[in-house]
Amino acid sequence: MKGKDLLSISDLSSEDVFSLISDAVDAKAGGWLSSLDRKVLALLFEKPSLRTRVSFEVAMHELGGQAIYLSPAEVGLGERESVPDVARVLGRYVDAIAARTFSHQTLEVLASNSGVPVINALSDLEHPCQALADLLTIYEKKGELTGLTLAYVGDGNNVANSLLLAATLTGVNFRIASPAGYIVQEKILNLAQEYAADCGAEIFCTEEPRLAVSGADIVYTDVWTSMGQEAETEKRRQVFANYQVNSELLSLAREDAILMHPLPAHRGEEVSSDVLDSAQSVVFDQAENRLHLQKVLLAQVLGGLARPAAAYR
Ligand code: CP
Ligand code: NVA
Repeated sequence: MKGKDLLSISDLSSEDVFSLISDAVDAKAGGWLSSLDRKVLALLFEKPSLRTRVSFEVAMHELGGQAIYLSPAEVGLGERESVPDVARVLGRYVDAIAARTFSHQTLEVLASNSGVPVINALSDLEHPCQALADLLTIYEKKGELTGLTLAYVGDGNNVANSLLLAATLTGVNFRIASPAGYIVQEKILNLAQEYAADCGAEIFCTEEPRLAVSGADIVYTDVWTSMGQEAETEKRRQVFANYQVNSELLSLAREDAILMHPLPAHRGEEVSSDVLDSAQSVVFDQAENRLHLQKVLLAQVLGGLARPAAAYR
């Protein structure tokens, strides 16, 4: 993956995903070392962030490199300066760019003009770093990926799109319950069907949350109103009213099912507080795993030394 962009999960092969997860397991256990000495990552963000910003900054710090955070107000992407010009300038200073944009096309323009690897830190289409960290969390909790069944309840948004691709690349059956008009992107679904056919996974789309959750190993939800959609908040509350993950819905999943959410959560909307705080919830492990997964991703993309810790003993 050295020197490559990560704009979509579809930029990765199944082998890439399994290798990232296995390296992240080792890195988290302290059995893996890397150096990004003198490497610099720009964090170019058009939207707010807690997890993504901090996990990328800490990852670069722990790998011996540095991150520079550029807030929406500072850069004025596409307003103060055109996106291609911002990309050309940043590419002269930094070794990679992690960008959070409203439009996925902005990421593509950054990637084609910067001359350095661009990592999608969330766009309107995908959130690949979240999906990869989520697979790491599922693997840690369940000890396997292939053959498990994940039920996603709610908006067919950026998080759902990336999760659908990542799950089907690794043989996880994917069920999704979304209201009509709020389903995952058709081109993503078509691609996921191909991935699923290759590894024997199944995809099931429904409008009925109970059908999706019944007997699932993993129940996953995300906000009904994503960043940038705030004007639709009231309408979305009505459309998604029957899609809350609460104790009654979760009880239909397997007894050992885990509850996942990328955070931030809108407690009392897409997920009830009791469920989010329950023993089945792994949401803070998910948040932590953003750091471990992204360290490995940065090391692979930026070509840092990666050796088993034992080699240094
Ligand atoms: N899950 C996630 O990406 O969180 P932030 O928006 O806080 O970065
Ligand atoms: N779907 C959410 C995810 C936030 C991490 C959003 O785009 O706001």
